[in-house]
Amino acid sequence: MKKVITYGTYDMLHQGHINLLKRAKELGDYLIVGVTTDTFDYERGKLNVHDNVMERIKAVERTGLADQIIIEEYVGQKIDDIQKYNVDIFTVGSDWEGKFDYLNEYCKVVYLPRTEGVSSTQLRSENMQTIRLGIIGCGSIAGRMAKESEFVHAVTLSGVMDTDLAVARKFAEDYNIPYYTDSIDELISHIDAAYIASPHLSHYPYAKLFLQNGKHVLNELPFALEESKAAELFNIAAAKGLVLTHAVKTAYCPAFRHLLTLTKSGLIGQIKDIEAAQSTLDPTPRKLDRNQAGGAMTEDGDFSLLPIFMLLGCNYTDIRFISKIENGVDIYTKCLMLYPNATASFKIGLGMKTEGDLVISGTKGYIYVPAPWWKPSYFEARFEDTSKNRKYFYSYSEDGLRYELNEFAGCILYKRQQNRYLPHNITISMSKVQEAYRKRVNCIEID
Ligand code: CTP
Repeated sequence: MKKVITYGTYDMLHQGHINLLKRAKELGDYLIVGVTTDTFDYERGKLNVHDNVMERIKAVERTGLADQIIIEEYVGQKIDDIQKYNVDIFTVGSDWEGKFDYLNEYCKVVYLPRTEGVSSTQLRSENMQTIRLGIIGCGSIAGRMAKESEFVHAVTLSGVMDTDLAVARKFAEDYNIPYYTDSIDELISHIDAAYIASPHLSHYPYAKLFLQNGKHVLNELPFALEESKAAELFNIAAAKGLVLTHAVKTAYCPAFRHLLTLTKSGLIGQIKDIEAAQSTLDPTPRKLDRNQAGGAMTEDGDFSLLPIFMLLGCNYTDIRFISKIENGVDIYTKCLMLYPNATASFKIGLGMKTEGDLVISGTKGYIYVPAPWWKPSYFEARFEDTSKNRKYFYSYSEDGLRYELNEFAGCILYKRQQNRYLPHNITISMSKVQEAYRKRVNCIEID
């Protein structure tokens, strides 16, 4: 019996797929079809697959052409499958011509003609409502978001606003955005959703303005500098059926999400301590400007609070800060938090350098995330018996902003007010900590 194997995503199954499967089947007696998992697609950059893996498997099944369906979940699996199933022929469409020649060592490789004029990409864009995104504030993070937005097909950059019109014009030219303005009010009618990347103190008033005008908001950190303001924004969003998302990029990236699920599944036992650190010696002047709410806490505090709140919850019983203040802003802050069954701490600096890693300590072992832990592509679970240690690797694409933007867009398209990875109560608690710190509650200053 001649066995043939082929692989694909088979999203929104179309005639091109059916033709390919028919031709593949004709090459032998038995056809195995590998369907990619959602995670595997996500990791290889296909962020916008429409149907989930079960739906895609069912669609392939309904063609009646596959004798066996398997799932493809890791790089290198094709070789394993060919050996495991004693495959004679590997085949795929001609769009992959040459890419799988390395499999010739294991079986015959056949590139079949691709059906012209149809693809999942095309079907997705025809079916997809496009979200007109406006960018507010043209700083460096805004530029990175503009670049990353190319990977999120549901989003089109439609407008940009900066209080300096020349800066907004240049940004619009650089990123091919059709509309620019220096007026926040004028931007409103050009967009469906706003990415707020303006200076810290404007996050709350701008977010409120956009929400009140029926626009979805992706709000950069610090989300709001007061607990009541953060809660108010979520209340407005809920009342108006809008999506409001906190742009703590780490929360949305695959490695961090897996770190959380592994840890919550008891891999390292009960968590007893979390320690995070982040620092730079090269802050932009805005980050050190007291009049713009500069300082290490407002700049990076939300990042460090993320693993702490996600893993230990928001009900800490005590919080203390130690800071080195210069010109009215903290250039170094150490924060100590107490929970009934655990402790947490972080140190952040805009004028001090340290190792930017994350350690989550448990009763059975610990998780180590090397610097820069807030852009994780790799972490380790470590145990007393070092033979049980395991390393976990992921792709972290460039700035990682595509993940948060993709989740934000998904929430809008599928009408999910709460995103899947950063609960609103955690954002509100981060604002509570920011507020306490800005009032210097439980804060000791050092020279
Ligand atoms: N295929 C084909 N003709 C098409 C589209 C796909 O022969 N018009 C083949 C591909 O070459 C591959 C298989 O179908 O062997 C599964 O491809 P997949 O990547 O799932 O489909 P695409 O429509 O190409 O998806 P996308 O647009 O997301 O890349």
